[in-house]
Amino acid sequence: MKYINKSLSIDKIKVQDIAKKFGTPIYCYSYKQLKENISNFKKNFKSFSPLICFAIKSNTNVNLIREIRKFGLGADVVSMGELMIALKAGIDPKKIVFSGVGKTSREISYAVDKKILLINAESKSEINEIERIAKSKKKVVNIGIRLNPNTDAKTLNQISTGKKENKFGVDEKTFFDLVNYCKLSKNIDLKCLSVHIGSQILNHKPYEKMLRVVDKIIKKSNHRFKFIDLGGGMGISYEKNNKKLNYQKYNIAIKKFLKNYDSKIIFEPGRSIVGNIGSLVSKVIYIKKNDKKDFIILDAAMNDLMRPALYGANHKTLPVIKTNQTSKKVYEFVGPICESTDKFTTLKKFQKLKEKDLVVMCDVGAYGMSLSSNYNVRPKLAEILIKGSKINVIKKRQKLEDLI
Ligand code: LLP
Repeated sequence: MKYINKSLSIDKIKVQDIAKKFGTPIYCYSYKQLKENISNFKKNFKSFSPLICFAIKSNTNVNLIREIRKFGLGADVVSMGELMIALKAGIDPKKIVFSGVGKTSREISYAVDKKILLINAESKSEINEIERIAKSKKKVVNIGIRLNPNTDAKTLNQISTGKKENKFGVDEKTFFDLVNYCKLSKNIDLKCLSVHIGSQILNHKPYEKMLRVVDKIIKKSNHRFKFIDLGGGMGISYEKNNKKLNYQKYNIAIKKFLKNYDSKIIFEPGRSIVGNIGSLVSKVIYIKKNDKKDFIILDAAMNDLMRPALYGANHKTLPVIKTNQTSKKVYEFVGPICESTDKFTTLKKFQKLKEKDLVVMCDVGAYGMSLSSNYNVRPKLAEILIKGSKINVIKKRQKLEDLI
């Protein structure tokens, strides 16, 4: 994304023209950036060619997932709906892993019928349920057990998953008990150890620690795991001064770990694949003056992009047409929803704005549209994919009639 003659453009297409043609608010994705992210991800770990299972929860657009599939990626799903979307996008079931603490009988049964690669179980009760279903279908089901490595991912508390107080995975002792239980089962084949310690991780050290725990546990469990699923969590730079994850060091740690094992590594990245491919274009409806700040009331709201309201996340915000006139007032960018948390960001020294101006919120490709809702009976937004000089509408804007 850059300014061409003061007009913000995504892969040479002017954002202003997109807004004019398709309306606002709207999610725009760059195919070029997607391709670059996938190729970088593969390059970072090419020495052991992992199976990369895209975390569908980060972006559930079936047409976008279809593009991702074309690069050979599989999928990490956490519900029957996500599994159905992954299959609809043409992802090979043999490249699909199913995670999550609360899979229902119906979901397990569906996953077994679809012959997916792995169901990553997170409790004894879930393993019993998988076994019961497998037995009733006279099948042997491949599973993984998710370990809770009690490792602090050093990320936001709300998106940390690998500490013992978190609901995810099982502790060391339960892990050994379950390994022994699976060894005796006729309908379960324990093929994988899985971990996922959190999201938006920018420091490689928690990953190194996680690998040390996994190594110790595999040795103790005395079981050969065909797959080691290391989850996702690789962070991206939302702000200029964000430090970057050192992939090289993570790669070295995995290579060292693999010296002792012949397992295939699985990753479940979401944000690092799609985070920076997306922009949310929005229009200023009104500017409301207050003695301390001006409220920039946008047509996008927290139902369209939840991350700021939910986690205090900050998305870089840019004017679509550059004027070089700076506002003397502090700007608070808000949406029209009746909640005080319907607020995106507060900025000093933003470019002077007027009503009907356009702005863009950056890096919203992951957990943007997928976390959106119909709160306040607001229709879900359109999504477009910019591919070369083409603009494809990959999801139509919901109509009010769909909701009422
Ligand atoms: N695998 C599992 C088991 C997960 O729970 C997650 C994310 C991922 C993979 C993908 O993680 P990623 O590579 O995208 O970090 N809504 C939050 C993020 C929640 C992440 C939940 N789990 C946000 O907007 O920051």
